[in-house]
Amino acid sequence: MNEVVYHRPELAARLAKLIMQVAVGSSASSGVFLAAPRRTGKSTFAREDLRPALEKAGAIVLYADLWQDLTKDPGLVIVEAIREAVGRNDGFITRLAKASGIEKVAVGGLNFSLDKIGLGKDIDLTTALVALSDESQKLIVLMIDEAQHAITTEAGVAALFALKAARDELNSSRHHGLRVVCTGSNRDKLAMLRNSKDQAFFGASMVPFPTLDRNYIGWLCEHIDLPSPLDPAEVFELFKESGYRPEMLGAAADAIRFDFFIDPENVRERFAELVRAQADELNANLKKVLHSLTPIQSAVIRVMGSMGDSYAPFEAPTMDLYAAAMKQAGIAQTAIKVEVPGVQQALIALQEKNLVWKASRGVYAVDEHVIVDLLRADGLLEGL
Ligand SMILES: Nc1ncnc2c1ncn2[C@@H]1O[C@H](COP(=O)(O)OP(=O)(O)O)[C@@H](O)[C@H]1O
Ligand SMILES: [Mg+2]
Repeated sequence: MNEVVYHRPELAARLAKLIMQVAVGSSASSGVFLAAPRRTGKSTFAREDLRPALEKAGAIVLYADLWQDLTKDPGLVIVEAIREAVGRNDGFITRLAKASGIEKVAVGGLNFSLDKIGLGKDIDLTTALVALSDESQKLIVLMIDEAQHAITTEAGVAALFALKAARDELNSSRHHGLRVVCTGSNRDKLAMLRNSKDQAFFGASMVPFPTLDRNYIGWLCEHIDLPSPLDPAEVFELFKESGYRPEMLGAAADAIRFDFFIDPENVRERFAELVRAQADELNANLKKVLHSLTPIQSAVIRVMGSMGDSYAPFEAPTMDLYAAAMKQAGIAQTAIKVEVPGVQQALIALQEKNLVWKASRGVYAVDEHVIVDLLRADGLLEGL
């Protein structure tokens, strides 16, 4: 069942249109950002539905997944996606070889290495993408999955700026256009790519990516193949409770499949139990981590969570808020001393615990929205 995908062709066609045809006054040519929480089906949709829809509408699609191999610099992953597309076609290579003067050296056949394309290499990303555009006469769409990861390294940031330059060139009337579509698991992080004027995608549209819906659950219940059928309405409630993550349902279904003694009568009830148990377990683990923080670490993440976008770690008002947060947590007034080095240490510790995420330029965000939700549910953001 895991190999099988529920398709959303209408959504894909609508998004493809939004991405490709830039309406008068629309900022879509700056890029389109799709945000939705982790494990809710963004990558699956991008690969299985959106990519084919864009290709069907006549675009060349390049795909870079910045999370696929976390040991690789995100900047390099973006460059490789472009190399791969160039390498797909001899025409692109010939054009690029000419552009870089290589045909003069090569006798018979082409002696061109794709490694020449890259940041600070003979052939920069704009030149490569221009060759791709002119040779194919098609619009190019570059999809960057988990794009926020790009701003965690210098090469990643450099790649984004290179793309901005390429986009401006390709979107001029001489060529056939470049659109960059970024997906990400966290709105706040993704927003960092477009919020300030010096960022590569200033002004790009942020589109909340629709979660899988009732039709998906209907499809799932039809194909799930358990000893007795599930009730779609009931399953949809469970799906909502578990954050619209298909895997939570998949794992529960597997557990039932491997239970050779289960009475078909009990399947529905057991399924619900299993899904809820998993969701509880995930939250319980996270809560345990949150409750084991030192007072200053706890204060830092609570203040960050409540300030969101406007969080500035070392500014005076923020420092006052840390103190307020500690006081609220019952730390004696006399014991509270908040200083920059202590905050710095707390930020590092929170990153190591994967609770906090840092962009390369010293901007911080709470790693996942569910962390903020848990803190809020526990009343820990009140008054901050
Ligand atoms: N349309 C779909 N049909 C079936 N399973 C899906 C679908 N979308 C996502 N899934 C399943 O949900 C899990 C998470 O999907 P993924 O696309 O990796 O999420 P994200 O990229 O948002 O983290 C995967 O195991 C995937 O197989
Ligand atoms: Mg993904």
